[in-house]
Amino acid sequence: MPPIPADRTPTGQTYTQTIELTALYEIAQLIGSAHDLDSTLNAVLGVLRDILRMERATLFLLDDTGRRLVIKASCGLSHDEEKRGVYRPDEGITGRIFASRAPFVVPDIHREPLFLNKTRSRDIDKGKLSFLGVPVLIAGEPAGVLTVDRLFGLEIPFEEDIRFLTVVATLIAQFLVLSREIRKQEAHLREENRSLRAQLTPVFSQHNILGQSKVMREVFAAITKVAPSSATVLLQGESGTGKELVARAVHQASGRRDKPFLKVNCAALPENLLESELLGHEKGAFTNALARRKGRFELADRGTLFLDEIGELPLELQAKLLRVLQEQQFERLGGSETISVDVRIIAATNRSLEEAVSQGRFRADLFYRLNVVPIVLPPLRERAEDIPLLIDHFLGISNQQNRKQVRFSREVMDFLSTYRWPGNVREMQNLVERLVIMADRQQILLSDLPTFVAAEPEMVAPPMPAIVQAAGTAAPRMSLEEIERGEIEAALKRHGWVQARAARELGLTPRQMGYKIRKYDLSRPQFI
Ligand SMILES: Nc1ncnc2c1ncn2[C@@H]1O[C@H](COP(=O)(O)OP(=O)(O)O)[C@@H](O)[C@H]1O
Ligand SMILES: [Mg+2]
Repeated sequence: MPPIPADRTPTGQTYTQTIELTALYEIAQLIGSAHDLDSTLNAVLGVLRDILRMERATLFLLDDTGRRLVIKASCGLSHDEEKRGVYRPDEGITGRIFASRAPFVVPDIHREPLFLNKTRSRDIDKGKLSFLGVPVLIAGEPAGVLTVDRLFGLEIPFEEDIRFLTVVATLIAQFLVLSREIRKQEAHLREENRSLRAQLTPVFSQHNILGQSKVMREVFAAITKVAPSSATVLLQGESGTGKELVARAVHQASGRRDKPFLKVNCAALPENLLESELLGHEKGAFTNALARRKGRFELADRGTLFLDEIGELPLELQAKLLRVLQEQQFERLGGSETISVDVRIIAATNRSLEEAVSQGRFRADLFYRLNVVPIVLPPLRERAEDIPLLIDHFLGISNQQNRKQVRFSREVMDFLSTYRWPGNVREMQNLVERLVIMADRQQILLSDLPTFVAAEPEMVAPPMPAIVQAAGTAAPRMSLEEIERGEIEAALKRHGWVQARAARELGLTPRQMGYKIRKYDLSRPQFI
């Protein structure tokens, strides 16, 4: 029997092959008994390092916005380094591997000053370091990139490493598919759970006003209590918090429900028109008064008058309004007949009347007269527990109106639950409606949110340089020069063509930068 060569095992495999098989076996074990996505992925990368002497391993995945590659797991990187490693799907070598769906090798990264060492984790003084990366493909589409650094030289052909890493990337891809499926199932169960719970809890919806937060329950209680009386109500709250809705609810819950509910916006009309709108006028009272006209106070007799944006009422009219409120009597403009009415007043304001009083812009006596029963509507951001309820409500309405069945992903729900909603419920209603109308899929993702909502600024992808691949090789070669040119140009653009800054970002000396710019014949574009 011929002697077994020193680098072969009794089964005839090379030593490297045995190690690779061991690694694959361990990885398969890890995935088979996985409980948690993140820790499993980290453990898988740990195997690469421990068994294969790979210095550093990193798994990038496309994040929920679909606009960035972020580090999902790593081995050999600190937390800070992980956070720095964010790429656009067309940026750096990692981005190029993603975009081209092809493996890539940098035999000696120290000779590649361009190598985007974004995590700043590579110790340049160590020995020779090679970089290998392969795409993670799910159903043929890129989902991420697996990269490793290895310390030793060229004794192992890179093709073999690439082949091995491709197998690992395939295992990772399968694992990702599986855990996404599980996550979907869990979300489904959670959703079911939520709707069951919602059916069990009493319906916190009165007079079409939704809310289960403590403050909103207090609002419901106040409405119920105050409605039967004729007391004046002052509604305070930011725009879009539901003041008008509450005003209508008070009217509906009162004995006046069969009589008119009229609204006057005190900010919408100039002073003289507003006065005639409220009190009416006789024929000839002013130039355009061609006929007698009843005012809103008269028209709302025995009903409710809703005075919106009362804080904008001019001082002179404030005095007149006070008299009407106190005496329930007034004269039309240009008239002498005294008219008596029975009108309930509900006033609303989105700014502090107390402050207006202290600044002399609002009469204190009128304020006290209006503020008999104050109801404060808190902004939506202060009653976050109402947000999912309201989103569901508006989603249901918009779906029905548009004959669709649009759903929001969990990420979108989470995001919207913490969004600050400067325009409160009105903004939410508009956003949900818009998303439903624009949706061309059933599931709304974070990337569907308009940019003014998603804090994430829209990223503008620079044009991608052509990728040159040598046919037939196991590790297709993209042209490093192409990549380098694109990267340098992009960095210059990012820094307004200030060479020194672009050089610093790329880790080049100014001299190197100047050389590269000449080499690639780059110049700042001329604008007309
Ligand atoms: N708690 C709520 N439940 C359901 N819809 C609400 C609620 N609050 C506000 N809305 C809706 O939001 C929009 C704005 O409410 P609105 O009463 O006009 O606000 P405001 O008068 O305070 O600006 C309306 O379409 C209203 O129906
Ligand atoms: Mg309003």
